[in-house]
Amino acid sequence: MPTGFSREELRSYARGKRAEYESVLEKIVEIPSVSVEPERKPDTRRAAEYAVSLLKSFGATAKLYETKGHPIVHGRLDRDPKYPTVTVYNHLDVQPAEGPDWRTAPFEFVRQGDRYLGRGTTDDKGPAITALFGAHYAFERRVPVNIHFLWELEEEIGSPNFETTIRANAGDFATDSVVVSDTVWVSRSRPACPAGLRGLQGFRFELQTGETDQHSGTAGGAARNPITELCALIAECVDGKTGRVKIPGFYSDVVAPTKKELEDLKKCGFTVKDFKKDHLFRSLRVDDALEVMKRIWMMPTFEVHGLAGGYQGPGVKTIIPPKATAIVSCRLVPDMNPKRIVKLVKDFVKKRNPDVKVSAEHELPAYQGKTTGPYADAIRGAMKFAFGKEPVFVREGGSIGAVLSMERVLKSPVFFLGLSLPEHGYHAPNENFDWPQAEGGMAAFADYFRRLGELKTK
Ligand code: BES
Ligand code: MN
Ligand code: MN
Repeated sequence: MPTGFSREELRSYARGKRAEYESVLEKIVEIPSVSVEPERKPDTRRAAEYAVSLLKSFGATAKLYETKGHPIVHGRLDRDPKYPTVTVYNHLDVQPAEGPDWRTAPFEFVRQGDRYLGRGTTDDKGPAITALFGAHYAFERRVPVNIHFLWELEEEIGSPNFETTIRANAGDFATDSVVVSDTVWVSRSRPACPAGLRGLQGFRFELQTGETDQHSGTAGGAARNPITELCALIAECVDGKTGRVKIPGFYSDVVAPTKKELEDLKKCGFTVKDFKKDHLFRSLRVDDALEVMKRIWMMPTFEVHGLAGGYQGPGVKTIIPPKATAIVSCRLVPDMNPKRIVKLVKDFVKKRNPDVKVSAEHELPAYQGKTTGPYADAIRGAMKFAFGKEPVFVREGGSIGAVLSMERVLKSPVFFLGLSLPEHGYHAPNENFDWPQAEGGMAAFADYFRRLGELKTK
C-alpha cells in the first residue's frame, strides 16, 4: 500500500508545485493551438511538440504520432507490465478566440488571484496539466499502475483522424481503462460526472442565386435573396422561439429519461439562477429547472451557429448578395442515428428549397456512460476524497468524439474525472480555470490512481 496519500500531504504537494503548474499552464496556453484555423497549423504542432517535451521532463517516455491532420501525443509512465495501465485522455487544441468581449488577450496567460485566464485554460489544457501533476505524485509514490497520457489536438474539430490513428497503432495505445478529464460540474459545490454525453451532427447550408452583389433598387423585388431564403428555410426546420425541431421524424428515436434519471436531476443541485449567471444569459426559453436540465442534457437540438453572407459593415449598403451560408448542428441523444438525421435533414431541405446545398460533417452518436462498478466507485471515492463531496452522475450536453473511438478500438472502459465549472466559460470569451479546481484535481487524480492500484483489474 503506497504511503503519502493523505489529503494534507497532497495539499502540501500541490502548494509546493503551484508555481511550476502555473508556468507550465502559461506555456501551453500561450501556444494558440486552434485546430480549426488552417493558419494555426504550425502553432498546433508546436503545442504537440511542447507536450512531448513536457511529458519527458516528467520522466515519461513520449511520442508524437502523425495523422492526416494535427498530431496525437502519447506518453507513458510505466511501472511494470504486470500492473494495470490507465490512460488519461485530454485534448490540447482549443476553440477560436476572436471578438471584442475578451477583457484580456486570449492567448496571454493572465493570473488574477486564484483565477487563470486565457483560451484553453479550462477546455482542456488546465485539466490536462492537473492530471499530469496528479499522476506524477502517484507515480513517484510507486502506485502499482502504469499511467499513460493520450493528448489529442483535433477534439474541437470532431476528432476526424483520431480513430484511424489509434487503430493503426493499437498496440502502443493498449490500456486497461481510460479516464477523461474534459467535462463540467453542475456547480462549484456539486462535482459531477457524465452519465452520458450528447452526440453531434454538423451541417453547412449553402445557397447561391447569383454571381456578384447587385443594387437592390434596380433588382430588388425580382431577385432571389439567398439570406432571406436561408432564414425562411431555417424557420421551417426549427421554431426559433421554443426550439422545437419541426422536421418530421426528428424526435422519433429519442429515448425518454427514466424515472430514476429524473429523480437524479431533481437532486443534482442545478439552479436556473446559477445557470443564467454562469452563462451570462438575460433570459431563457423556459424557466423551470427540470425543463432546462432536460433540454440541455437529454433532448436533441437544431442550432444555427453562424450565418454568413451580404454586407456586414457600418451603415447600410443596399445590395442583394449572391450567396449565403448557414452553419448548423444537431445535438443527438440516445438512440438517435446520425446517418438517419443526415438523411432526414437533406430530404427535408431538398423538398423545401432544392437549390440549397447541404453538406454534413462531424458524425457522432450520443454516448452512454457507466455509473456503477469498481471504476465508477473509484471515481466517486477520489472526488469525495479531493473535494469533500461525491459527484452526481447526470448526463452532459457536450460531445467528445474520442470517447466512442477509444471504447471501440482499445476495448477498455472509459470513465470521467472532469474539473471544469460552468462559470469557467467553455468556448466563451474570458475562458478561465482556477487554482482550487487544479489543487483538488491533482489530489483527485492521485487518489484515483491509488485506488486503481488496489483494484487488481489485471
Ligand atoms: N469539453 C467539450 C465537451 C463537453 C462540453 C463535455 C460540455 C461536457 C460538457 C469539448 O471540448 C467540446 O467542445 N466538444 C465539441 C465536439 C464537437 C466539435 C464534435 C462540442 O461538444 O461541440
Ligand atoms: Mn473539451
Ligand atoms: Mn471544447
